[in-house]
Amino acid sequence: MDEDTYLFKFKGYNFERSLIDIDQLENLDDFEIRDEDVFIITYPKSGTIWTQQILSLIYFEDHRNGTTHMETLDRAPFLEYNIRKMDFFKRPSPRLFSSHLPYYLAPKGLKNKKAKIVYVYRNPKDVLISYFHFTKFLVTLEDVDTVEQFMKRFLDGKVVGSLWFDHIRGWYEHRHSFNVLFMRYEDMKKDLRSCVLKICSFLEKELSDEAVDDVVRQATFQNMKSDPQANYNKILKEEIGIRTDDGRFLRKGTIGDWKRHLTVEQSEMFDRIFQRKMKDIPLKFIWDVNEE
Ligand code: PPS
Repeated sequence: MDEDTYLFKFKGYNFERSLIDIDQLENLDDFEIRDEDVFIITYPKSGTIWTQQILSLIYFEDHRNGTTHMETLDRAPFLEYNIRKMDFFKRPSPRLFSSHLPYYLAPKGLKNKKAKIVYVYRNPKDVLISYFHFTKFLVTLEDVDTVEQFMKRFLDGKVVGSLWFDHIRGWYEHRHSFNVLFMRYEDMKKDLRSCVLKICSFLEKELSDEAVDDVVRQATFQNMKSDPQANYNKILKEEIGIRTDDGRFLRKGTIGDWKRHLTVEQSEMFDRIFQRKMKDIPLKFIWDVNEE
């Protein structure tokens, strides 16, 4: 099967074909943004679900102390993939949203700095490997046999989310048009508490030390993996469709898993492209768990 079975190209960006609603895409620009809205924006496989959990825990006490059972997808639904057909206008503020949109497709309210954005990025070799496994797992994504084949798709931007380099460059270069905080997946992994505090400060949310401890505890990989509200297993299996029972959304959750999957040649080729494409972007990336 070719990738067009899975991708829907709209205004130069590849959406996940099976999940889109064309009317909604056409009206994205005018989607009404409220001052209290908060957006989690990522390239796929960069820590979206993790950040959904963190923000849900920060914002909603009933999420933090487990008194209300609501899946993360309902706490922070995807703007462009409204799979549960929620009425976004009826949602009470503060509304959390998630999105993989490139900067230029973001609703104009966001471009006017209404609402806050947390943009999470991750080293793209780990993104690539996480994505490769995800495509083997999810029926709505094109299944390719080898890392080699997937790497070609990824580097050609023929995947949902289009080209990683364009996504991060776009958001980074236009950051002054938005009210955006850049967070690095690897920092969250190395020191989650400091990152939660940084996010709280950006969102102007003051939590007690105990509440921050609760957020951190419930946002660790192990806790999320075993928490049905947070791990997406049911949603993927029952609402989106999986190819195998072996895969998990929360797969490894580590830094540097790419080393187990990329050959030296593949890694060096990736490095050459990365250096060329990112040479004028001063963001620093962490490729290895031992790197500072
Ligand atoms: S998606 O499909 O774009 O929404 O995927 P996304 O949530 O962005 O990325 C999935 C990867 O994030 C990892 N993850 C975590 N890592 C560390 N700690 C926590 N708590 C956590 N939660 C999710 C998840 O395991 C995927 O990475 P890989 O490398 O595949 O394990």
